[in-house]
Amino acid sequence: MADRAGLEKGEERGVGGWSEHMVLPTYVRLHSYRPPTSDPRPLSCEESMSGKLDGRIAIVTAGGSGIGAATARRFAQEGASVVIADLSGKRAEEVTAGITTSGGKAVCLKMDAADPEGVHATIKLALDTYGRLDVMFNNAGAAEVALLDETSLESWNHVLAVTWTSTFLGMKYCLPIMRKQGKGAIINTASISGTGGDYGLSSYNAAKAGVINLTRSAALENAKHNIRINCVCPGAINTRAAQILGKERADEFRRLQGQAHPLGRMGEPEEIANTVLFLASDEASFITGAAIVVDGGVTAHTGLPDIRRLQR
Ligand SMILES: NC(=O)c1ccc[n+]([C@@H]2O[C@H](COP(=O)([O-])OP(=O)(O)OC[C@H]3O[C@@H](n4cnc5c(N)ncnc54)[C@H](O)[C@@H]3O)[C@@H](O)[C@H]2O)c1
Repeated sequence: MADRAGLEKGEERGVGGWSEHMVLPTYVRLHSYRPPTSDPRPLSCEESMSGKLDGRIAIVTAGGSGIGAATARRFAQEGASVVIADLSGKRAEEVTAGITTSGGKAVCLKMDAADPEGVHATIKLALDTYGRLDVMFNNAGAAEVALLDETSLESWNHVLAVTWTSTFLGMKYCLPIMRKQGKGAIINTASISGTGGDYGLSSYNAAKAGVINLTRSAALENAKHNIRINCVCPGAINTRAAQILGKERADEFRRLQGQAHPLGRMGEPEEIANTVLFLASDEASFITGAAIVVDGGVTAHTGLPDIRRLQR
């Protein structure tokens, strides 16, 4: 049974990336909303671009929605065959159908990225179907809003398992395959919430900071195997997470999130997908161990008030 936000029963938890502090502290200047200057809507696979991933095999976890779905579509447009893995089999199937009907190659499965069995099954599907694995996008994440002293151990463990342990498992199980192949690219979804603190998101902040530093260690250990490992740190992105966390005030939630970004809007999932595509492609051949911030300028700001206002 799906509700208004497209949620299936029991899915209210496990959303990623939304930072309560972006419902702004009063001293932060609000920016007026501006729509994206270019149209970030996905092209069909027939309108494919320049074949940046021609012949490559890619896994996308949490590929049934938002950033993962946009990235799966983008990978397919650029010639990759994609394995779409998601906790929601229904969403994974919908994204897969969209890709295959527009001329791309994709298969999918229902899995839990925090469960070693689920990760094993995903990699097995890639190998059984396509015979190799070139790109691993570890994208699952979960946020639960609570003050630290009110966070239950169960909630803490859940957020770390889906956000951090899933990244560890995804890398652990694909590395031996990529080493054997002599090449690979891994991209992990971190967040600007891994580069600073948020109000009410301590477990998410800790887990995303963990993703960033885990990316660095893994990059160092695997550089000699010709495997590049990077992470992407999105700002607030317009996905179903906004609907889930904003509930009946989702529109206001989106507006405030947009205003917190110097570019005057939230990011679109396709704008993160473009960055992940770049990191997966040979265009990023000298980039490893990097945390690429894609946040409309949020982290460019110290958070201090506009000094000109204080001088008036
Ligand atoms: N939306 C943002 O503002 C934002 C910002 C920074 C980082 N992120 C990160 O981006 C990633 C994707 O977030 P999104 O906003 O696109 O989310 P989304 O809610 O649009 O989609 C998340 C998908 O993940 C799936 N999922 C949830 N738990 C899973 C699990 N254990 N195993 C496999 N799949 C699972 C869900 O079924 C859903 O299809 C997350 O890691 C999130 O923390 C999001």
